[in-house]
Amino acid sequence: MSNDANDTGDAEALVEEHEQRINDLVADVDDPAELGDDEDDGFSMQLAGLELDRRDFMKAGAAAGVAGAAGAFAGCQTALPEGKTPSDSGGGGGGGGSQGASASHGHFVPPGEKDEYYGFWSGGHSGEIRVIGIPSMRELQRIPVFNTEPARGYGYDDESSEMLEQAGDYTWGDNHHPNLSETDGDYDGEYLYVNDKANGRIARVNLKYFETDAIVDVPNVQCIHGTSVLSPDTKYVLGNGEFRAPLPNDGRDVNDPEEYTALFSAVDPESMETAWQVKVDGNLDIVDTGKEGRWAISSCYNSEEATEIQGMTRDDRDYAKVFDIPAIEQAVEDGNYEEVNGVPVVDGTRESDLNSGDEPIVRYVSTPKSPHCVEVGPDGKYAFIAGKLSPTVTMLDLDMIGEVDDPTEAVAGRPKVGLGPLHTTFDGNGHAYTSLFIDSQVAKWDIEEAANAELGSSDPVIEKQDVHYNPGHIQALEAMTTDPDGEWLVSLNKLSKDRFLPVGPIHPDNDQLIHIGDGEKEMEIVADHPAYPEPHDCVFAHRDKINPATTWDKADYEGEKPFVTAENSGVERTGDSSVHVKASSKRSEYGMYDFTVQEGDEVRMTVTNVEGVRDIIHGVAIPEHDVNLAVAPQDTREVTFTADDPGVYWIYCTYFCSALHLEMRSRMIVEPSE
Ligand code: CUA
Repeated sequence: MSNDANDTGDAEALVEEHEQRINDLVADVDDPAELGDDEDDGFSMQLAGLELDRRDFMKAGAAAGVAGAAGAFAGCQTALPEGKTPSDSGGGGGGGGSQGASASHGHFVPPGEKDEYYGFWSGGHSGEIRVIGIPSMRELQRIPVFNTEPARGYGYDDESSEMLEQAGDYTWGDNHHPNLSETDGDYDGEYLYVNDKANGRIARVNLKYFETDAIVDVPNVQCIHGTSVLSPDTKYVLGNGEFRAPLPNDGRDVNDPEEYTALFSAVDPESMETAWQVKVDGNLDIVDTGKEGRWAISSCYNSEEATEIQGMTRDDRDYAKVFDIPAIEQAVEDGNYEEVNGVPVVDGTRESDLNSGDEPIVRYVSTPKSPHCVEVGPDGKYAFIAGKLSPTVTMLDLDMIGEVDDPTEAVAGRPKVGLGPLHTTFDGNGHAYTSLFIDSQVAKWDIEEAANAELGSSDPVIEKQDVHYNPGHIQALEAMTTDPDGEWLVSLNKLSKDRFLPVGPIHPDNDQLIHIGDGEKEMEIVADHPAYPEPHDCVFAHRDKINPATTWDKADYEGEKPFVTAENSGVERTGDSSVHVKASSKRSEYGMYDFTVQEGDEVRMTVTNVEGVRDIIHGVAIPEHDVNLAVAPQDTREVTFTADDPGVYWIYCTYFCSALHLEMRSRMIVEPSE
């Protein structure tokens, strides 16, 4: 490491060095002379019109931010019942007087009323999905995915612990990109898919029960970052391998980084098995798909294939990679692959046979340095590739990409939007909204104007809104469908710094709710919401599209697990040292007041909640045995453990289910062996 500041521990020097590094990188890209006509790798490109001083944007943005702030406080008041003020009702958001501002964008949802939208947030390295109502921003539920969660018995009952065990037996995951399943390009409310960046996994959440029901540990990849379903009908769940590694990673080529590779993976959404993979040059970051099922577009920030930051940021350009899904399927069908760990791996590197013909399976499109996100607009015409270290967003014309010899000819626009563009979202009225990580702003711009403007022009930018601070993903209502709803946008800010009461050195993130309406008015921040680290992305669906069950449907587990009633509760010896205990549960008793097993017995315990009423959950806790079940109405859960030590163990219910909740008990008697 040649990092002097790190060596000395000098805090100011560290900050200075970091800012200098970012400035140097951005400045490189900002200099048109360095971007004009470099053709070293055969990927010529032109970045015209980058002559504007990038600080111009900072000034313009700051002015817009001040103008926006005047109305911000009024946001949560206007939807209150008549005569109420925020302090009467505890309504969220700003507080303070409205100063007579004209804002009329209340996000307050009065007691007893429901939000109009479901928001599904990834929890980052907390490993869970969070369900948050929009516009209230109230947290409704958490769905454990790659983590264990005592409150829901997840990772404690047999089924979920076996699923986690079979998916690699890791204790955590880093989920980034939640994706709702689609039919005809619209959310169908069936499933949500999310990646685990840390361990290269993809999980499926069943939205009938808001429960994780499958996890695949994708072979041959160490890290899956970008994740998307293939529109319009969820034919695959696609995962981008971000970290390059030897293939297979079994000890070969460890000191030969040139031999490392990154893989693009397709998972079958029903079987949750890996269907095929594509080997590529460079790495893979974020992915989205066109709306017609043919193209998947990934960004790549390390075309240099370096192993350290200096090398990864060396060149002025990287790639967007456009995967031709039917062509890849054809290659697999034709046997044009190498099987690695049971998965067909197709060669999509630039020099491969499959890429040398007229119909390459992967098109490499040169883009400015270190792009971050790819999002496809609602009409499917353009893929928007945010520049990160370039102040631009590259628009790739997906109607043209299959028609042109040089894929850079499909670049339809490249507006200059500000510093650190990371993610883009849409209101369905012709506007794109791009988060600017370095500028701490959201830029709103006109898509068609950008398509008609010179590359590098800032003219399409309409407005900027300051956010607090350093936004990553931003998402507007139903922005991933063919018909976005506009109205609200959430900016998932990585840093909250001074926005909340201090709670020690680890701060919450800050999710800000921004009113965008139909895109014709100014953006307005309506609420700050602290978020436990660290949401990356979210996706919003209208409540009419999500139809969760309120009690379990027995038919969904019939034949796999019994439905235990009071009548068939009891203990059955199943072997010399194994028993099966079956117990019903209802307010406020289990199917038996006590049961007896022998020291050393393996105990399989099956518990059914026979209640038919919503919101009456029963728990099963057995002290000193690490047993913890949560059983919803009409559901059955099982747990297997060993009764190691003789004694009496009180079983109790963990959910406060009735006035006699404390009395809802049973005894497990473990008799000493002879
Ligand atoms: Cu059942 Cu508390």
